[in-house]
Amino acid sequence: MINILLSGCNGKMGRVITNLLENDGAARVVCGYDINTASDTYPVYDNLSNVKEKVDVIIDFSNPACLDALVAFCGDRRIPLVLATTGLSTAQREKVAELSKKIPVFSSANMSVGVNLLIALVKKAASVLEGNFDIEIIEKHHNQKIDAPSGTALMIADEISSSLKGHVDYVYDRHYVRKKREQSEIGIHSIRGGTIVGEHDVIFAGNDEIIEVKHTATGKEVFAVGAIKAAKYLVGKQPGMYNMEDLVNSQI
Ligand SMILES: NC(=O)c1ccc[n+]([C@@H]2O[C@H](COP(=O)([O-])OP(=O)(O)OC[C@H]3O[C@@H](n4cnc5c(N)ncnc54)[C@H](O)[C@@H]3O)[C@@H](O)[C@H]2O)c1
Repeated sequence: MINILLSGCNGKMGRVITNLLENDGAARVVCGYDINTASDTYPVYDNLSNVKEKVDVIIDFSNPACLDALVAFCGDRRIPLVLATTGLSTAQREKVAELSKKIPVFSSANMSVGVNLLIALVKKAASVLEGNFDIEIIEKHHNQKIDAPSGTALMIADEISSSLKGHVDYVYDRHYVRKKREQSEIGIHSIRGGTIVGEHDVIFAGNDEIIEVKHTATGKEVFAVGAIKAAKYLVGKQPGMYNMEDLVNSQI
């Protein structure tokens, strides 16, 4: 049985993971970490140094404010980390990269297999269409989301950039300057409203034709299922950075 510490356990994603793991024969939550320590199942700590349970892996869906404490805890106790929290700063990403020299770290701004398939498709499209099509990404999320653009939109843009030969500029806002769009631009646009779980639409607009690849998450379970798979995959791995591509390839 794999023992999981669930960081952000009292949040929306934390609750979905708790429910899913109640019926999992291979992994269970042994304790949680959250500023809200309410619990009727497992112990929840607001300070990681108080954790007494034996923990094999951490799943984190919390807030960038938790990162320093998580990095210190995982590094000291050599516990693998599945990092799903989005909106980390560049300095925080560097800390995570440093941590991955000591322990295995699985990081993905989107744990859904469907989104990772979308990424594979748009990378292929971008390399075929380069030079003739303008690329724009539109993401939509609920009105409680703090970071914009979404971590997934940035991940999609980064993956597209890696498959293009030419220079790429990300453009988030066009209201402040009156000029035509450059071919090198990837436009990234955020819409926030209601209870939208998550939509990512990649548009390739050419002369007289448009190709769109779109993923819509209608529930949070897709992310929770991916994160639990990631936790099971990570236990026993060598230190280093891992992502959904590694997980998907390991299952083929
Ligand atoms: N990678 C993915 O696939 C994926 C999918 C969904 C959500 N997310 C990300 O996961 C994170 C959590 O999402 P959510 O919808 O569950 O959010 P949420 O706000 O519902 O839950 C966050 C939880 O973290 C706790 N928390 C906040 N600050 C804390 C602190 N300083 N110390 C300890 N606990 C703290 C809160 O009390 C809350 O219980 C967000 O960054 C979100 O963007 C990632």
